[in-house]
Amino acid sequence: GDAIPFYGVRQAGIITPAQDRLHFVAFDVTTSKRAELVAMLENWTAAAARMTAGLDAGTIGAVGGIPEAPPDDTGEAIGLPASGLTLTIGFGPSLFRKFGLSGQRPEALEDLPHFPGDAIEEKISGGDICIQACSHDPQVAVHAVRNLARLGMGVVSVRWSQLGFGRTSSTSTSQATPRNLFGFKDGTANLKAEEPALLDEHLWVRDGDGPAWLTGGSYLVSRKIRMVVETWDRTPLGEQEAIVGRTKGTGAPLSGGQEFDEPDLSDKSAIPVDAHVRLAHPTQNQGARLLRRGYNFVDGSDGLGRLNAGLFFLAYQRDPRRGFIPVQTSLARRDSMNEYIRHVSSGIFACPPGLQAADDFWGRSLL
Ligand code: HEM
Repeated sequence: GDAIPFYGVRQAGIITPAQDRLHFVAFDVTTSKRAELVAMLENWTAAAARMTAGLDAGTIGAVGGIPEAPPDDTGEAIGLPASGLTLTIGFGPSLFRKFGLSGQRPEALEDLPHFPGDAIEEKISGGDICIQACSHDPQVAVHAVRNLARLGMGVVSVRWSQLGFGRTSSTSTSQATPRNLFGFKDGTANLKAEEPALLDEHLWVRDGDGPAWLTGGSYLVSRKIRMVVETWDRTPLGEQEAIVGRTKGTGAPLSGGQEFDEPDLSDKSAIPVDAHVRLAHPTQNQGARLLRRGYNFVDGSDGLGRLNAGLFFLAYQRDPRRGFIPVQTSLARRDSMNEYIRHVSSGIFACPPGLQAADDFWGRSLL
């Protein structure tokens, strides 16, 4: 039932311990009037502060109002606690084009390039504004997104959204490493909340990196990655481990040691040259490090006798040009995992720092 503070130096939902459930949504702004967008963001902020505290979206609530008007909350979270709900906002490159905000657009906030093997579907990619809703209870996350969409009617429309279950990362050393749908521990070598010097270097946008409104924030890259689990499940254990570069049981590097020991990436190492962890490792990518915060998904089945399953990859970083882009470039070229995965959606968003006063609202310093 715990509530995670909405106000703070950083937005919650980045280094706060990853919850188990996700509802991620990307909106298109449908109005051309900046004042309407600003008013909606004020309403959103008030609703977000309330919902993350376990309250109704509006002050009257789902059942307290007059019978003649639609309720100011949709009601499905009545009786449910805050459940660790975090709501994290980000702004996509298209928002800056739409509102002529090019002077405020950070140089690093550009649509991601095409990577070899990409099968990106436009309809489930991009977006002007994203909200990452995470919670221990899926109903609480869905309730939050639904109420923001309701409050945004006439100003924004839902472009795409994704549900996720089962975190595929740890963002704190206090958390055990979970598993992804390949059955491997995921999130072992991740940036973690307990490493402030590394977070300053690799996660948080610094003064001088770009426009002031983003200082103290971070960039979010989203990639929906379909995993062909049926093919994976027919792959021998030894081959699965060679593809990842770690053992399936403990998650230790194939070069030996325990889960959290450094992998040996020298020529004599047992970790193959095309193993995922070798190609993704910082020493192979000019020191690039990410805070991964993704989720498993299963969107039913695909009509061809297969689960529509995969990883909804989310990663935060100080600069995508020194984070996701070089890592993905190296993976897309050579990763032996590519035979079993396909990237189908892509997004990039600039996530401002946290709000620190109750009269501040999302996007104020930008708009
Ligand atoms: C590590 C799985 C996609 C970046 C790992 C590990 C697994 C894994 C099992 C080892 C445990 C760990 O350290 O977390 C997957 C799967 C993917 C996927 C199943 C797709 C479905 C990606 C993508 C990126 C990425 C798209 C970034 C472009 C990393 C990084 C590491 C890692 C940076 C840590 C490497 C290290 O420092 O040792 N991944 N991954 N992964 N992955 Fe992925």
